[in-house]
Amino acid sequence: KRTAVLISGRGSNMGALISAAMAPSYPAEITLVISNRPDAKGLERAAEFGIATAVVDHKDFAGDRQAFEKAIDDVLKEHRIDLVALAGFMRILTPYLVNAWSGRMINIHPALLPSFKGLATHERALEEGVKLHGATVHFVSAEMDDGPIIVQGAVPVLDHDTPDTLAARVLDVEHKIYPKALELVATGKTKVTGARVVTGAENN
Ligand code: GRF
Repeated sequence: KRTAVLISGRGSNMGALISAAMAPSYPAEITLVISNRPDAKGLERAAEFGIATAVVDHKDFAGDRQAFEKAIDDVLKEHRIDLVALAGFMRILTPYLVNAWSGRMINIHPALLPSFKGLATHERALEEGVKLHGATVHFVSAEMDDGPIIVQGAVPVLDHDTPDTLAARVLDVEHKIYPKALELVATGKTKVTGARVVTGAENN
């Protein structure tokens, strides 16, 4: 499956997907990286891998979110993309693009959803005193950080953790579960029943 990764920043999850996709047996190929920020570090990294990159800068659309999303959709179509993976893409998408890619667009969120939607997840996990934290890959739905969950990975919260040390432990897990989730989706192993995704693979 031809897969596009949408980023806004450093692109470490994008890198994990690109690395995984290099294995000949991997069912998805990363053929396009789109950033809404022209200065995103991940763009350089993608180019070093020889992957096509595009910038669709939301600032060029004067607040017209549909025009911004149509521009993204046009690039996805030009590149004959089958699947979209959001990886640190910091724009909230409207139903316009989300519905167009329903079942074919996934996102990674640095928390065990449905806990800690939104930003500053690690700070909030520490404030709430949870003992387990982690990351979630889910299908994108019109609600932010919502949608059927494909894979989760958990980490312990340790006594000495700061938001940064916790973020680093979660990021390691993100880099493991995102390739796994994309693999499940690309092989068509994910069946969505209501809020629930079954994959036929236990312990994922
Ligand atoms: C990750 O923690 C991702 O879950 C979050 O933003 C961060 C992006 O990091 N939404 P990177 O750009 O993939 O390195």
